[in-house]
Amino acid sequence: MFGSRPSRPARQDHEAGRLWWRDGIIYQIYPRSFMDANNDGIGDLEGVRRRLDHLAWLGVDGIWLSPCFPSPMADFGYDVSDYRDIDPVFGNLQDFDRLLADAHSRGIRIILDLVPNHTSDRHPWFQAARRSKDDPKRDWYLWRDPRPDGAPPNNWTSVFGGPAWELDPQTGQYYLHTFLKEQPELNWRNPEVVAAMHDVVRFWFDRGVDGFRIDVIHAIAKDPELRDNPMVNGVQKRLHSENHPDVHGMLRALRRLADDYDERMLVGEVYLMDPAEVATYYGAGDELHLAFNFSFMHAPWDAGAFRAQVERFAKLVPEQGWPDHVLSSHDARRHASRYDHATLGEARCRLAALMLLTLRGTPFLYYGEEIGMRNVEIPEDAMQDPLAWTLSPKLCRDGERTPMQWQPGPGAGFTKGSPWLPFGDDAGTRNVSRQMEEPASLLHLYRDAIALRRRNPVLQRGSFQPLDSPDQVFAFERRDGASRALVALNLGTTSVNPRLPAASVQGGLRTHARLPLPEDAASLELRPCEGAVFLTAC
Ligand code: GLC
Ligand code: CA
Repeated sequence: MFGSRPSRPARQDHEAGRLWWRDGIIYQIYPRSFMDANNDGIGDLEGVRRRLDHLAWLGVDGIWLSPCFPSPMADFGYDVSDYRDIDPVFGNLQDFDRLLADAHSRGIRIILDLVPNHTSDRHPWFQAARRSKDDPKRDWYLWRDPRPDGAPPNNWTSVFGGPAWELDPQTGQYYLHTFLKEQPELNWRNPEVVAAMHDVVRFWFDRGVDGFRIDVIHAIAKDPELRDNPMVNGVQKRLHSENHPDVHGMLRALRRLADDYDERMLVGEVYLMDPAEVATYYGAGDELHLAFNFSFMHAPWDAGAFRAQVERFAKLVPEQGWPDHVLSSHDARRHASRYDHATLGEARCRLAALMLLTLRGTPFLYYGEEIGMRNVEIPEDAMQDPLAWTLSPKLCRDGERTPMQWQPGPGAGFTKGSPWLPFGDDAGTRNVSRQMEEPASLLHLYRDAIALRRRNPVLQRGSFQPLDSPDQVFAFERRDGASRALVALNLGTTSVNPRLPAASVQGGLRTHARLPLPEDAASLELRPCEGAVFLTAC
């Protein structure tokens, strides 16, 4: 039944030219934490399938699943030991095919997480490579002799702390790892590695998968001579260990592969601090379809800062490219916690949601943000993320990875067993079923804003122009032919007239759900931490 014919998505929109990843909304699922169908306390693919109705109700167009491949879970799936199967903790290939088919029948696409930079040290490729210096797989990884004094071959450091080299006693050479020592770095300058990874991509595309989120894509190409990184003000600059110009050719080859199929997409994690560098990964429309724009994760709650970040990325993305925006992910503190405030915390989540869903660029949602889930404090002795001990408990990422809060009561509708990470203290009140019943909830605001975007192409493809407004306001205009949308977001703690242009309001919504829309946009008064979007004619 499955597998013989690849599953392709049902068309929901017959609107000409609509492209799911550009005009739609993508929702990230951390599979361990979304829904546990077999009650072992860990989320699984069958669980995701059972919750597809929630995602269809919310109105998302695609799901990105963080890694679900076989893995020893040293870095919770970002250490893959087999790229062509599903880890038993999440199910099996049949469960995956069933999930894909059911998602597609609802018009929802599925993106998998490709981890091409490194494998698990338990991957058969590495197991073979470490056996002897002349193993045919040896050169699939990066091996070097120690320096004469026994020290690592160069000064590169691991992102997760300590040197990026591990001495393998069996052959007396060091191997490179940018992350944990359990994540040896693949050698992308070896054509066999490239061919093997291309086969993996084809394997999933042939199965019907709609795209890939590519992990740390900027790191796959390194300086061929592995020269020392320079030190700038006492800090190592990763000049030679990442972002080597050769990465772009490697990425173009992956893109050509995706272009052999219809409507597949590649979104890349380019974790570089300079957005100008990030934007180079779009190439000339022949590399990534989307490069994650993490700028909100580093911006303070400030209208000017938000506006500056949005404008900067918009200007950097090349003509053939398309922007995107992200508020939260499995690697960063949830924005409900980042933006917390004694009295305005909830209002800030509503405002951030309205901004994300009205900007020009694909919105990425992180599971649970639609109900305002917060980071959960995890006691040090219960921490599971390896960063807690390789770097610092302060950098532990478990807090943003806790199980989805579906309903009140034990197990929170996530599991009947004991969850792998604790629920938030607020799970009894902050959960999907509660907010479903409450039309003024954050969940309904997400759904309404998504529906508004879906109904109005101006909110998808329209141009973006910031508007002059009081300092505490971020206001902008979107235009598409004769349609126009006006958006005003008051990030301040006092009421304000955002000085929108005079225009007759034909629809829209405001984050204070119970307040009526004004007739004229110019007369809008925004309360503290309130936002509004209006549809008007040009
Ligand atoms: C990416 C992932 C992160 C992981 C790292 C190493 O940054 O998002 O979760 O730890 O790559 O694979
Ligand atoms: Ca399970």
